[in-house]
Amino acid sequence: MPGRIYAVANQKGGVGKTTTAVNLAACLAKAGERVLLVDLDPQANATSGLGEQANGTSSCDLLDGAPPGELARPTRFENLDLIPSKPDLAGTAADLARRGDGERFLAETLAPAVDTHAFVFVDCPPSLGPLTVNALAAASRVLVPVQAEYYALEGLSQLVTSLGAIRARLNPTLALAGVILTMVDGRTKLSADVAAELERHFGPLLFRARVPRSVRIAEAPSHGEPVITYDPRSAGAEAYWKVAMELVDRSSEVPLAAPASGAPA
Ligand SMILES: Nc1ncnc2c1ncn2[C@@H]1O[C@H](COP(=O)(O)OP(=O)(O)OP(=O)(O)O)[C@@H](O)[C@H]1O
Ligand SMILES: [Mg+2]
Repeated sequence: MPGRIYAVANQKGGVGKTTTAVNLAACLAKAGERVLLVDLDPQANATSGLGEQANGTSSCDLLDGAPPGELARPTRFENLDLIPSKPDLAGTAADLARRGDGERFLAETLAPAVDTHAFVFVDCPPSLGPLTVNALAAASRVLVPVQAEYYALEGLSQLVTSLGAIRARLNPTLALAGVILTMVDGRTKLSADVAAELERHFGPLLFRARVPRSVRIAEAPSHGEPVITYDPRSAGAEAYWKVAMELVDRSSEVPLAAPASGAPA
């Protein structure tokens, strides 16, 4: 059974895309799945967040046509491979935008990754530019992290419109896997209001699991680790485990790895 490509996208900056991509990838890898994280942001935050260097081969090469099998490198985390990014990716994106076939380029080059990895996460930059368009054209599902704050809702309708346009033009089977509420402060009415508003708009597409605002989550990247290994017992780690398990439930056609007993998958 081939794996599935998830784009983690929201054109708004700082909403938790990278944190969500890194931690979901880490949770599913720890659960025994073969996971590939593709850092498609020139900021290379997912790369440094896993303690990896933004050097050598990178997602730039992926956009130059190199196969993912040659670019995926193992990380310190078992089952978790990474195609890192580096700042040059900004230039590669500009080149891509000038090419006629530029929008479906990643869809072509990344496709073989689903034969080797059960879950492929693509961490997108904070824009709806050529990199994000390529990620959405390549993905079968989109995960949208949303920060629990007032302006969060404003950009969402634009994002949903863009998803419709991508579906019509580039990727008819693209589906919204869900909206994940991040940086929730359980004590504030604002967080509750944003959650209620999202519930109204997205219904069951809003993940039941919510990610709290947590110092441990914010600290983890500076140690080059996902929060689920940096502080496995923290509320943030627990929340990301719940999100990951909910994602598995939502993609139930993708079987979990065979249990340790060796039963066939
Ligand atoms: N639940 C959380 N609690 C506290 N801090 C968080 C949480 N989630 C993310 N952060 C911090 O907020 C900042 C933005 O998060 P992150 O980098 O994941 O967002 P992003 O959407 O990927 O940003 P960008 O749009 O720049 O790519 C980071 O410093 C991160 O460590
Ligand atoms: Mg990011």
